[in-house]
Amino acid sequence: MDEVSKRARSMRPFVVMDVVARAKELESRGVDVVRLEIGDPDFPTPRLITEAAERAMEAGETGYTQSAGLPSLREAIVDHMRAAYGVSVDPADIVVTQGTSPAMLLLFGALLDPGDEVIVADPCYPAYPNYVRFLGGVPVSVRVRAEEGFGFRLEEVEAAISPRTRAIVINSPGNPTGAVLPEEDLRGLADLAERTGVWIASDEIYHGLQFDGRSRSILEFTDRAFVLNGFSKAYAMTGWRLGYLIAPRTFVRAAEVIQQNFFLCANHFVQVAGAVALAEGQDEVARMRSVYRQRRDYLVPALRDLGLDVAVEPKGAFYVFADARAWGSDSLALASRLLEEANVAVAPGVDFGPGGEGFLRFSYAASIERLQEGVERLAAWASHAGHVSER
Ligand SMILES: Cc1ncc(COP(=O)(O)O)c(C=O)c1O
Repeated sequence: MDEVSKRARSMRPFVVMDVVARAKELESRGVDVVRLEIGDPDFPTPRLITEAAERAMEAGETGYTQSAGLPSLREAIVDHMRAAYGVSVDPADIVVTQGTSPAMLLLFGALLDPGDEVIVADPCYPAYPNYVRFLGGVPVSVRVRAEEGFGFRLEEVEAAISPRTRAIVINSPGNPTGAVLPEEDLRGLADLAERTGVWIASDEIYHGLQFDGRSRSILEFTDRAFVLNGFSKAYAMTGWRLGYLIAPRTFVRAAEVIQQNFFLCANHFVQVAGAVALAEGQDEVARMRSVYRQRRDYLVPALRDLGLDVAVEPKGAFYVFADARAWGSDSLALASRLLEEANVAVAPGVDFGPGGEGFLRFSYAASIERLQEGVERLAAWASHAGHVSER
């Protein structure tokens, strides 16, 4: 039978990518679209990183590397973990990947047997449940709420643990909410993992983009954890494709074997540049962070003025997850109307789980001028559509 596999059919589309496609189609017809739908930094990759890649290419660093990654990059990751968190990691426990996304395949591939469960937040980054399902696992959602700053209630996480639970996924600062889990929650989750024998899978890709205080790695609280991280967001390197998995010793070899077979290795010269990003790029990260902060400080009150509800100010990453029910409860239909009628592209909240229905995700990986333009258009749209706003 000429049928697409059940496994592929069970994967839900990432609707925001359809929004991207439609926005691009409008743009190709000459329409000016304010693009707030995607988490792709508008900054170019800092010069010191691109120059390192150029030098590496010139020097012929263009072949395969060890599947686990260049020793020099793994050493740079070890140094970074010590400098940023005071945590000591063995380079042997690191597998370098082509982004955080492939690192998820290594993590869940090494951890899950069919029927095993993984706890995720609802709403969350949708790749987590998709990877889990693809590998035969079962994602189990635990609701997080806007009015509680989208943090977990630990008793609800504990209640969701069954004999089949292998891991709890956390992502702080988080996509789509910009929420930062407080230290006591990280400690509580670490205790829970140690008490129950589940693992924490901590996606730390937005570390460095937290506006107050420093981001805390889960490894500061427990060893019963995997860390996923990558260079895409903090270093503005989305298209370079570089990330890594730090795995407990038992799982490292399995993760490495998956990497060997499926991907061979990450790009050689990109790994060289990644080591420079970690060692020398922290001032650049701080510079971009302060710009993101200014944008957050503009956008949150502006959205509230439009009549959207942002119960708790987001504390990191570059997203505002706003309750848009004043404008319509079907987030997909609303996002589509805003794109067609106001030419403002945003991500529908339902893309991130049923708990995101009624919300819209605004990315401020766009200049302050474009954010202002977007807000102006939304204000005009809302008043035309008869929605009450406080403006
Ligand atoms: C929470 C989260 N994790 C992982 C990724 C993917 O990162 P990478 O580019 O490293 O594959 C994203 C991208 O938006 C993300 O938001």
